[in-house]
Amino acid sequence: MAAVCPECNGTGWKIVEREEISGAERCDCVLVERAQRLESEAQIPPLYANASFDNFLLTRENPIAYRNMQEVLLTVRNFAREYPHGRHGGLLLMGEPGTGKTHLAVAALRAIMAKGFEGLYFDFQNLLDRIRSSFSNDESRVGDKEAYRDAMEAEVLLLDDLGAHRMSDWVEDTVTSIITYRCNNRKSLIATTNLIDAEAGYATVQRAEPGKPVDYRTTLSERIGPRARSRLFEMCRVVRMPLVEDYRLRKQGAQ
Ligand SMILES: Nc1ncnc2c1ncn2[C@@H]1O[C@H](COP(=O)(O)OP(=O)(O)O)[C@@H](O)[C@H]1O
Ligand SMILES: [Mg+2]
Ligand SMILES: [Zn+2]
Repeated sequence: MAAVCPECNGTGWKIVEREEISGAERCDCVLVERAQRLESEAQIPPLYANASFDNFLLTRENPIAYRNMQEVLLTVRNFAREYPHGRHGGLLLMGEPGTGKTHLAVAALRAIMAKGFEGLYFDFQNLLDRIRSSFSNDESRVGDKEAYRDAMEAEVLLLDDLGAHRMSDWVEDTVTSIITYRCNNRKSLIATTNLIDAEAGYATVQRAEPGKPVDYRTTLSERIGPRARSRLFEMCRVVRMPLVEDYRLRKQGAQ
């Protein structure tokens, strides 16, 4: 057991004097304890156990990417700082694999939890698998029914790798209902995706070399459906990650 807090003698309240009037205020130790509990309930994967804004590094190898990444970091930091009073109810991080989307999304979730709000991490694919299996009427799967409800009700939901799943009507309906519910009920959403979208400035057609067929890239809308995509853009501050060398490969190379 932790030692009794010297500030409040373990009561959770401390007397503070402000302009000669004394009153009771919540002690910081209560917030710290709550933040620790929130952290342990958020289901953040072990790989991101320490991911924070402070250990998100900006590499200087490419000055333009450096500046853009600095801007991305600032935008995401501000989103977390302003929560729950920010202009946008959500944050959508778009970009290539290994550019730090999940790291930044988790850092934002953490910063929000540090303020006492409840956060929940879900890998998109894993969430769908769990929801699907909960419909199998298998009693042993009863716990999975909660996955759907949790994704709807969590104060702040992190949906990681949106669209990394084979598309089906079922997937489209499920993701649409989650995003629509959250949007309508002003519940925050942080999402990441490797998929592209023309509105975010991505070219959806790769310029083909002469004689080669045109290469169409998979868009977010194709994977999650136009309705979910449109709600997402409506509620989210959309952030496009600059193209940097895949951080995973970089780390391997350094070993
Ligand atoms: N700028 C960065 N500074 C420090 N670590 C990073 C940075 N970008 C990525 N990483 C780390 O590299 C790994 C891959 O990053 P991740 O956020 O999973 O990329 P993405 O979600 O875009 O595919 C993670 O372990 C992450 O913590
Ligand atoms: Mg990721
Ligand atoms: Zn205390």
